[in-house]
Amino acid sequence: MSKRGEGLPGSVDTRRRRGKRALPDYYPFVAEDIVRLCRPRGDGLWVDLGAGEGPVALALAERCQARIILVDPNGEALVAAREAAASKGYADRIHTMRGRAEALPLADRSVDLVVSRGSIYFWDDQPRGLAEVYRVLCEGGQAMIGGGMGSNYPQWARQEFIRRRHKGVRSKGPEAYERFLWLRDPETFAAWAHEAELPEFEVVGEGGKAPEDPRAGLGIWLRFER
Ligand SMILES: C[S@@+](CC[C@H](N)C(=O)[O-])C[C@H]1O[C@@H](n2cnc3c(N)ncnc32)[C@H](O)[C@@H]1O
Repeated sequence: MSKRGEGLPGSVDTRRRRGKRALPDYYPFVAEDIVRLCRPRGDGLWVDLGAGEGPVALALAERCQARIILVDPNGEALVAAREAAASKGYADRIHTMRGRAEALPLADRSVDLVVSRGSIYFWDDQPRGLAEVYRVLCEGGQAMIGGGMGSNYPQWARQEFIRRRHKGVRSKGPEAYERFLWLRDPETFAAWAHEAELPEFEVVGEGGKAPEDPRAGLGIWLRFER
């Protein structure tokens, strides 16, 4: 029996043990899109919001010299993130803060880039969180908030990921599935952005596409700047 991810570098899917093919790591592809789309100052201050154990920040750290603050309400996840950062030699420029999107523990106009992947779906108040992100951006600062696996992540893996994801959510019943799709709808993102009174924004991505769609898994992102 294979150990986790063995044979596929950076593999993140342990379900191979149950006979499913392991999927390659998508975080490097997410980081690639963030840097390409936002073109942030490489030596600035960045925030990974809803960072969890920090996979996005770690992938970003490989591509920049920025200091990155990981914000998340889950203290245990942040401990794991600090350990992972230290093991990769990033302890001096990856920091953590316990907090929520709706009340960011950061000063006004202090951050060059805020990224948040896979987290906005869990916030209690998305417009409030987006207004907070805008508050902490410095002049010219960028934000990319949403979810997805990166535009260069292999299509077969994106579709397989989405197939498994949709199956998992469907098994929770029709209401859960409907909410899952609603949370990933471009119109929902635009409504949050309007309610947050963002002066300008764009919604990038395809939303809750069916697994059969070749663009499945490209995700949906709200991009804005100050
Ligand atoms: C699915 S995980 C995503 C983790 C990571 N960003 C990734 O891409 O793998 C969602 C994260 O959002 C965090 N979260 C939940 N509510 C939040 C809130 N109100 N503000 C910020 N983060 C929140 C959770 O603690 C969790 O770590």
